[in-house]
Amino acid sequence: MAKCPIRVLAVAGARPNFMKIAPLLKELRAREGFETLLVHTGQHYDAAMSDSFFRDLGIPEPDVNLGVGSGSHGEQTAEVLRKIEPLLIERHPDVLVVVGDVNSTLAATLAAVKLGIPVAHVEAGLRSFDRSMPEETNRVMTDVVSEWLFTTEPAAEQNLLREGVARDRIHFVGNVMIDTLLANLDRARGLDSLERLGLEPRGYALLTLHRPSNVDDPVRLRALFAVLEEINTELPVVFPVHPRTQAAIERLLGGQSPALRMTEPLGYLEFLQLMAEARLVLTDSGGIQEETTALGVSCLTLRDSTERPVTVDEGTNTMVGTEPDAIRAAVRKILDGEAKKGRVPALWDGRAAARIVDILERDLERKSDRQRIGN
Ligand code: UD1
Repeated sequence: MAKCPIRVLAVAGARPNFMKIAPLLKELRAREGFETLLVHTGQHYDAAMSDSFFRDLGIPEPDVNLGVGSGSHGEQTAEVLRKIEPLLIERHPDVLVVVGDVNSTLAATLAAVKLGIPVAHVEAGLRSFDRSMPEETNRVMTDVVSEWLFTTEPAAEQNLLREGVARDRIHFVGNVMIDTLLANLDRARGLDSLERLGLEPRGYALLTLHRPSNVDDPVRLRALFAVLEEINTELPVVFPVHPRTQAAIERLLGGQSPALRMTEPLGYLEFLQLMAEARLVLTDSGGIQEETTALGVSCLTLRDSTERPVTVDEGTNTMVGTEPDAIRAAVRKILDGEAKKGRVPALWDGRAAARIVDILERDLERKSDRQRIGN
């Protein structure tokens, strides 16, 4: 008798989710025995924040788009909860797969567990220990109710064990975002973005800035822009501007843009090429700390904490905080040829999605065998 397929409902909502869900979907759809439904919550909706990632990464059109859009944390989380629940009831998947730490991740997880649908959290266990970051709440809450906790680095397992999670729920599988990076690097290197922007390989710094703690405070934002403008006089600073940051420039700085090489948000491949060829990257993103470590490019993180310590302990990442003197000194060191050398962390090898799907297949087949025997 033919086996019933394992039904997976995969959720993605915001820009950093798309490169994580892509290799999982590819792996699930390449194997017999899985039936996969992709749900886009619509948390990010601009062409540059969403559609271009689907196109660049060959992600199939979402089967359902919940069209949630922007709002306060409460509104956004509530809208995803409200809109995904009927879908979960109708489709009743065997597992919900969520990635990362955005509001959509937590909301979809909550809706599923309340319906008795088990959740697999990809990129579990990361902790910045800074509860003022909205993502930290999302991480902690998602992990506590998820059945499968797929981790990217050893610290994540330690965090989960410390929080009392049973060891058999934790699986160290590597990093799906690095699966995507490795699969696309050659294609990205073949683009002509550097010529188009008038840049030389290793002849510029790449900047991203969008954390509320940095961009929603006018004093902090002004001070950061001032030191970055100084750096720009020595090394061009290319700055693709996140919509939140653009809105902050309008609202808090009276529309006065910094004297940097500002661009619209870039697509995945174009940004990857700029990262791979940069002299250094300045960022407050989480994912970029990992991508630069995988690429061996120097990264200065403009935050006081990281939830991804392996990028500092083994990789090319340095936490510099937001004090202008510290940023200036760290950039100087790199320009003087004293950049930190790193290595690629264990299991960041392009095979994380395959490991995850192996584990889900094993556990869910076992579960359905048990149910069949039970019946
Ligand atoms: C979200 C995630 C953050 C992630 C970031 C990556 C949460 C709590 N935060 O932050 O972890 O690092 O995505 O980008 O989930 N906007 C647009 N177009 C869009 C999307 C947003 O203009 O397509 C604007 C809106 O003004 C919106 C603001 O950006 O209010 C913030 O968007 P939101 O999704 O709330 O949070 P991000 O700052 O993008």
